[in-house]
Amino acid sequence: MKELEFDRHRRLRGSDALRAMVRETWLRTEDFIYPLFVVEGENIHREVPSMPGVFHVSLDGVMNEINECIELGIKSIILFGVPKDKDSHGSQAYAEEGIVQQATRLIKKEAPEMVVIADTCLCQYTDHGHCGIVENGKVLNDPTLDLLAKTAVSQAKAGADIIAPSNMMDGFVTAIRYGLDEAGFHDVPIMSYAVKYSSSFYGPFRDAAHSSPQFGDRKTYQMDPANRLEALREADSDVNEGADFLIVKPALSYLDIMREVKDRHALPIVAYNVSGEYSMIKAAAANGWINEQEVILEKLTSMKRAGADLIITYHAKEAARWIKEQ
Ligand code: PBG
Repeated sequence: MKELEFDRHRRLRGSDALRAMVRETWLRTEDFIYPLFVVEGENIHREVPSMPGVFHVSLDGVMNEINECIELGIKSIILFGVPKDKDSHGSQAYAEEGIVQQATRLIKKEAPEMVVIADTCLCQYTDHGHCGIVENGKVLNDPTLDLLAKTAVSQAKAGADIIAPSNMMDGFVTAIRYGLDEAGFHDVPIMSYAVKYSSSFYGPFRDAAHSSPQFGDRKTYQMDPANRLEALREADSDVNEGADFLIVKPALSYLDIMREVKDRHALPIVAYNVSGEYSMIKAAAANGWINEQEVILEKLTSMKRAGADLIITYHAKEAARWIKEQ
């Protein structure tokens, strides 16, 4: 009997072993960067209502979190500070005794092998909740750069291994690189939030970090979700200005952008799997609507397939646990 002619893709899917042999993308625990929210005060270990499984911790609880990460094989964390006091210039962002500076010193003393990434922004620290200095209802670009450089230097002084500016002012990589070099921190890399969209997926984070803008929105500095070329321009600028890593944020709705940035630049690409992406899965799982573990691992794998070398994710600890079990 004459056979029909067609390709037999199923030949490579016949067993677990075969599928493992031809698998193209792997998740490794080393790929994960775990975000940690540090708050001022004592004995605080408070779950963020919109982010089940994510906690605000005070300094006394930070090493518990870090030791858990180390046991699971997670190599790096990104620190977000939630200060008690806010003012118009976000001065707690660059205070020597700021919460991120204190947490950084503590972690680097107790667990020097942990890579500490400091998020460099002002929005958690300003009373108006914007990422820069505000005058007459406008977020000013150039005057903000000085404060960002100052913040980065204070974080590096405290021992931060990597500076991650997330504020989306133009020229922030130049300003921070200049500030770091001038202060002698030539070897501290910049992980730039190069492509950051003005996204509603940040909602739960703003609850967590108490960083919602008190007027207006972030559309004059964060990007329009409809734009692709703009993302390429943003990434090009940051590369020219000396960024060492490029973040694409959010991740899930922007996997196409991640692939393009990866193909265009020979730098490590970082996916920021943001709060809304996390909370949607948690909510669906709590309702029994999805298989939580499978959906999370599928989601993280898709980011790596799209070109991410590293993933900032609130799922880091649970994903590390599942990878260990497999
Ligand atoms: C601050 C900042 C934001 C996030 C990280 N850094 C929020 C924002 O821009 O409003 C969002 C992270 C997340 O949603 O998980 N600039």
